[in-house]
Amino acid sequence: MAEQTFIANIADHVEKTITISGWVYNKTSKGKLHFIMVRDGTGTIQAVVFKGNVAEDIFEACHTLTQESSISVTGKVNADERAKGGYELQVSDLQVLQIAEEYPISPKEHGIDFLMDHRHLWLRSSKQHAILKIRHTIIKAARDYFDGLGFTLIDAPIFTPSACEGTTNLFETDYFDSKAYLTQSGQLYMEAAAMAFGKVYCFGPTFRAEKSKTRRHLTEFWMIEPEVAYCDLYQDMDLAEGMIVSIVERVLENNRPELESLERDISKLEVIKTPFPRITYAEAVDILKEAQADFIDGDDFGGTDETIISERFEKPVIISHYPAAVKAFYMKREPKNPDLALCVDILAPEGYGEIVGGGQREDDHEALLKRLREHDLPEEFFQWYLDLRKYGSVPHAGFGLGIERTVAWICGLTHIRETIPFPRTIYRLTP
Ligand code: 4AD
Ligand code: MG
Repeated sequence: MAEQTFIANIADHVEKTITISGWVYNKTSKGKLHFIMVRDGTGTIQAVVFKGNVAEDIFEACHTLTQESSISVTGKVNADERAKGGYELQVSDLQVLQIAEEYPISPKEHGIDFLMDHRHLWLRSSKQHAILKIRHTIIKAARDYFDGLGFTLIDAPIFTPSACEGTTNLFETDYFDSKAYLTQSGQLYMEAAAMAFGKVYCFGPTFRAEKSKTRRHLTEFWMIEPEVAYCDLYQDMDLAEGMIVSIVERVLENNRPELESLERDISKLEVIKTPFPRITYAEAVDILKEAQADFIDGDDFGGTDETIISERFEKPVIISHYPAAVKAFYMKREPKNPDLALCVDILAPEGYGEIVGGGQREDDHEALLKRLREHDLPEEFFQWYLDLRKYGSVPHAGFGLGIERTVAWICGLTHIRETIPFPRTIYRLTP
């Protein structure tokens, strides 16, 4: 069999005879012609089977081809402006690997539950393909950003002995004769690593038993979490802002066709440049008051509040200084007002809401011990974390970027469930 060529590289093979291995996207036949749309994961191309160009049995076999049948087609590449993608294949040979059974996902409308039940097949459709290609770019761009700044990738454990982001949404699991929890964040481990390597990040899945059904929450989601020694809140903001700009730039560079197929308003992404607006919690509360939102000053922002605030800005908005009472135990306090945390959240525009959460960490041993007690956290499991404040403690900061929320925003999706290959939510564990 001829060497396999990929549709993405088809322009390099004009007038040459090549073989594409893929699946039938759709097919129309009339008289002496079959038009087969073939996809191979890198693109689609129309393969034209003319009765006079192929053996009799091959032409007949084309009659039996169904949607998603697997085939290898050999033929000459023609540049043709009328063809989708600009090229078509004049078929001289064709091999059928399998005739697919009647494919459950047809061009007609399907309900979301049906599609989610068939997620393993739905991934083949062009919209899902575009989203996951963009997800790939986002992850690569984020990693390249940190790598380019001299960060070291340090992997955090998934089984943990205790909570990091509050005890209400922990996934508990048996761990031999004791209990373990699935990690909510790699942060605490990155703090240890930052004291060893200076600038570090982890990238991995994190877990939260989110019992509410919202369009922003998964029970399993991926986070990229940088942590930097000798870094304050404002340097942390700069780092996050630079990362977001760099991600958006890369998607605009690499994924225009995907954004267009998602009908994303690209002009909304083109304005994502430094500097981002920076406001305090108190200023965000003023926005909510002005909008007469149903919000109690002092509370954390809910999804609706985030939507109202982020709709005010065309760029991501950086919000700092939340009341320490609504934030995690590890937050350092504002020296001028200890009721406020040196924390930062970044809300994506167009109503998307929080994509980044982070801040400067408490670096004083006594203050941290006091917080652990206030939060009723088991001190014995945090001895190692307290150690970091005993042996060369330094100001340090970091944040976590939620990959799926970022994908939802950049792709312009209304729901987070399509941003990850196999979503996990309170009601979904399969496929
Ligand atoms: O704001 P969070 O809870 O921050 C942390 O976990 C810190 N320990 C990170 C750090 O400083 N290293 O979560 C960070 C981000 C959120 O801004 C959001 O994008 C995402 O993680 N996120 C979720 N994404 C999907 N589903 C959920 N249930 C999420 N919970 C948080
Ligand atoms: Mg948060």
